[in-house]
Amino acid sequence: MKRVTLKINNYISEVISMNTLELRNAFQTVFGAEADHTFFSPGRINLIGEHTDYNGGHVFPAAITLGTYGAARKREDKVLRFFSGNFEDKGIIEVPLENLQFEEEHNWTNYPKGVLHFLQEAGHTIDVGMDVYVYGNIPNGSGLSSSASLEMLTGVIAERIYGLTVDRVDLVKIGKQTENHFIGVNSGIMDQFAIGMGADQRAIYLDTNTLEYDLVPLDLKDNVVVIMNTNKRRELIDSKYNERRAECETAVSELQAKLDIQTLGELDVWDFDTYSYLIKDENRIKRARHAVLENQRTLQARKALEEGNLEAFGRFMNASHVSLEHDYEVTGLELDTLVHTAWEQEGVLGARMTGAGFGGCAIALVNKDKVQDFEEAVGKRYEEVVGYAPSFYIAEVAGGSRVLD
Ligand code: GLA
Repeated sequence: MKRVTLKINNYISEVISMNTLELRNAFQTVFGAEADHTFFSPGRINLIGEHTDYNGGHVFPAAITLGTYGAARKREDKVLRFFSGNFEDKGIIEVPLENLQFEEEHNWTNYPKGVLHFLQEAGHTIDVGMDVYVYGNIPNGSGLSSSASLEMLTGVIAERIYGLTVDRVDLVKIGKQTENHFIGVNSGIMDQFAIGMGADQRAIYLDTNTLEYDLVPLDLKDNVVVIMNTNKRRELIDSKYNERRAECETAVSELQAKLDIQTLGELDVWDFDTYSYLIKDENRIKRARHAVLENQRTLQARKALEEGNLEAFGRFMNASHVSLEHDYEVTGLELDTLVHTAWEQEGVLGARMTGAGFGGCAIALVNKDKVQDFEEAVGKRYEEVVGYAPSFYIAEVAGGSRVLD
């Protein structure tokens, strides 16, 4: 296993990556047989366009080299056996192929179970079991989408092991279906899309309303994206997430009194300004304002990136954070401390939270030569304010879920 030490100061973040030989060996040790194939599925960061995916807006995520590895072998009976290198104490979890329902005691395997279930429901033939080994190096609870990574990993495993041909966007939708209707988290399509459709050195500009997308070259010149992990224990995220969704939906229904719209993503800033009087609650005005402005900001940020104007791109990142902090109210002390401190550092073009919020990670666009100073300064301040250390990783943008060998 390769231990990649990503930083050389107080905030060392070690990430273990695996090559196919190590994956095959791990599989052999657990299952006593040779794996048929090995796989990898990335995590994701979102550059900008936060809490817009369930509001019919645009998102601008990218797949990263942190992710989930897999190795699998087809069986001849109707048994699925799963083992996670991250939860070795759970041992091999055995699941009957013929009863793919959510079951609490099946723990993390509910994600792969859900994907297999919805593949079957979509008419794909999965009539024998398999043995599956997985190992993920996405930091726990970091909001870099370990669950979507596992869902899409299962998708590519099933495609190869069972010889299925599944359109990639359909697989992405099956990942989302699993999250929404098997696991019970009401998330949008961004994570599965970014992970399933990711490409090397490209960010994905996606219209979540139409699913039209562009792969945009991510030329950051002398800068890197630093991921800053709050290391905060994630609590109640799903209920707060659902509350925001519901607030936006109510705002849409209030706006529908005068406007023919289905989502906030259909509004430009002036339409929203003109009709915001229809929304009868201060919080809902703020939530909707975020959704509308963040969507417009994402369009502008893409343009800035394509024009090579990284300074402007960075300012859009900052504006996004302000809006998520004050209007959408999904940040909190930990994310705000990281981001506000990042803004003050030399060589920083922009910083914002990424993902659902309430903890998890933030990202900053930082000059390569300043990264070490940056991490020291931000890490120190964060520890003073929050009482424990954050972690830092450099985001490497890479391809989507795939077969390794
Ligand atoms: C989570 C969800 C996504 C998206 C983001 C916020 O990551 O899974 O669908 O809503 O939050 O942008």
